[in-house]
Amino acid sequence: MSVAVEITVKSVLADAAARLSAAGITDARREARLLLAAALGWDAARVLGFPEIELTAASSQRLEALLARRSAREPVSRILGYREFWSLRFELSAAALDPRPDSETLVESVLAALGARGRAFRILDFGTGSGCLLLALLSELPNAIGTGIDCSEGALETARRNAAALGLAGRARFVRGNWGDGLTGKWDVILANPPYIPSHELPGLMPEVALYEPRPALDGGADGLEAYRALAPAIARLLAPTGIAALEVGAGQATAAAGIMAKAGLALRTIRHDLSGVDRCLVLGRD
Ligand SMILES: C[S@@+](CC[C@H](N)C(=O)[O-])C[C@H]1O[C@@H](n2cnc3c(N)ncnc32)[C@H](O)[C@@H]1O
Repeated sequence: MSVAVEITVKSVLADAAARLSAAGITDARREARLLLAAALGWDAARVLGFPEIELTAASSQRLEALLARRSAREPVSRILGYREFWSLRFELSAAALDPRPDSETLVESVLAALGARGRAFRILDFGTGSGCLLLALLSELPNAIGTGIDCSEGALETARRNAAALGLAGRARFVRGNWGDGLTGKWDVILANPPYIPSHELPGLMPEVALYEPRPALDGGADGLEAYRALAPAIARLLAPTGIAALEVGAGQATAAAGIMAKAGLALRTIRHDLSGVDRCLVLGRD
């Protein structure tokens, strides 16, 4: 039998935040609120509205387990099992990168470049991971269809589940492949958020990334640019004459990546920055 203890949200949150803070978590109070809500099975906003709660032994144990996981630096999104991206909910898995808010810059860039949204655009997404980029675009372009490519079958399974959950499975397919190998046809939009962290920097990444993100999603080779070299000829071959490509780049990589694309015949139209002002997205065309 579980014993109910009358206790205030304020004191539970204060204790939880102190524990997270001691483990080196900077945004401890907000994260404590998210974990308490998860332990109670509540929406996070409800925690703010209820100063008094009954913390049963079962929910107390659940909170304890969640705090232990976060203190071991597992990201909150992975603990909860999902991430909001482009205001859509994406399920996560160990094989798929946790989508980053910065990557929404690619979605914004493509929508700005396309203008009218009603055409039957064909979209190709290299390194689709959770499917977040392709599915966010399909949610905005009602007649578009798309293909997501990834080398990881686990990531592709996650992307397929996300497409189904978002009601977009009829317009999205997910195929295992090594970048553009074996692909044919012409595509109106090509997306890529490839791995771009130089291999020697991987050991120094924060634990949330180093311990919990799949390595194939991170490792960009010796200088971080290997995937761009592999992708450039594939994009040049597969992009429709009036098509656009949107590529994510890491901080400081925009010029080098644009140079690699230019050698393959892809012209830089614009560089868009993310919310922190970092050059994040190359928009390319044929001229
Ligand atoms: C940085 S993650 C991007 C995931 C997702 N598009 C996003 O923006 O959150 C890069 C993805 O590329 C995939 N990948 C790495 N090498 C690949 C290759 N040679 N061919 C296809 N996909 C590859 C990884 O498995 C990973 O899912």
